[in-house]
Amino acid sequence: MIDLNNKVALITGSSDGIGAATAKLFSSLGAKVAIVGRKQDKLDKVAAECEAKSPHNYKPVVIRADFVNDEDVVRTLQETISAYKHLDILINNAGQSNNKDFLDTDALSDYDRTQQINVRSVVRLTQLAAPYLIEAKGSVVNVSSVSSLNTFPRMWSYGMAKSALNMFTKTMASRLAPNVRVNSVVPGPVRTNFVASLNLDPKTTWDRLVDKQPLKRVADPIDLANLIAFLACDASRNTTGSIVVSDSGELIADPMK
Ligand SMILES: NC(=O)c1ccc[n+]([C@@H]2O[C@H](COP(=O)([O-])OP(=O)(O)OC[C@H]3O[C@@H](n4cnc5c(N)ncnc54)[C@H](OP(=O)(O)O)[C@@H]3O)[C@@H](O)[C@H]2O)c1
Repeated sequence: MIDLNNKVALITGSSDGIGAATAKLFSSLGAKVAIVGRKQDKLDKVAAECEAKSPHNYKPVVIRADFVNDEDVVRTLQETISAYKHLDILINNAGQSNNKDFLDTDALSDYDRTQQINVRSVVRLTQLAAPYLIEAKGSVVNVSSVSSLNTFPRMWSYGMAKSALNMFTKTMASRLAPNVRVNSVVPGPVRTNFVASLNLDPKTTWDRLVDKQPLKRVADPIDLANLIAFLACDASRNTTGSIVVSDSGELIADPMK
């Protein structure tokens, strides 16, 4: 059974998409959440929804931060601890794809930004959170991507970053055991604004993606939030270092079809 009552959870990238769905689900299950994103209006909307869903009317701690800056990563942990004095759960969800082709002359600066947001900020935040998570015997869930396990040439540096995140998950699961469990979820396509960030037309892209999936659907953010909640809480107490795929079957699609 998923029990998050009174657990303190820091959820990055929670002003939208998977992170927002996770923050709302955690709130509805009685958790105290800290939400993080770059856009204040979106954060305020998610915060109000979290409060309305909380059985205890808990107001989230709202942190405006841009993870391209190391100082914002440090401040995110500081503000969470200063408010709650405790941390049970860290959800490393904030992420962005690259948008430069490998042969673009500016590809390297895009590569650096992609690594900073998807890997370096996760490493720094997890390192800063670790003493609190060890004390709480808590857990970490990292949000990876199918592009860590398969080739998507236009998302080349993003795929590299998410592969690194998978290895970080396994290595930290080993390093932080027995006190802290660390797992990754691996989404396939999820109906969020992420697709728009890839400069794809959302209308035709979703139809094409649905058709490609063995389950003939793409995920809604709540599908991932449910899996994240399971991995974050004691219902999965026997699971650590796992890379758990939730991809509408994308990775097992029949290439002959
Ligand atoms: N959607 C998919 O198909 C899909 C598939 C596989 C993996 N994923 C992964 O799932 C995670 C969540 O993505 P999503 O689909 O929910 O995307 P989304 O709807 O675009 O939300 C992304 C979230 O991350 C935040 N964020 C982005 N860049 C940031 C930065 N530099 N600093 C701080 N926060 C930042 C955004 O904040 P603001 O909006 O406030 O800027 C937003 O809250 C990502 O790690 C992504 O790689 C998504």
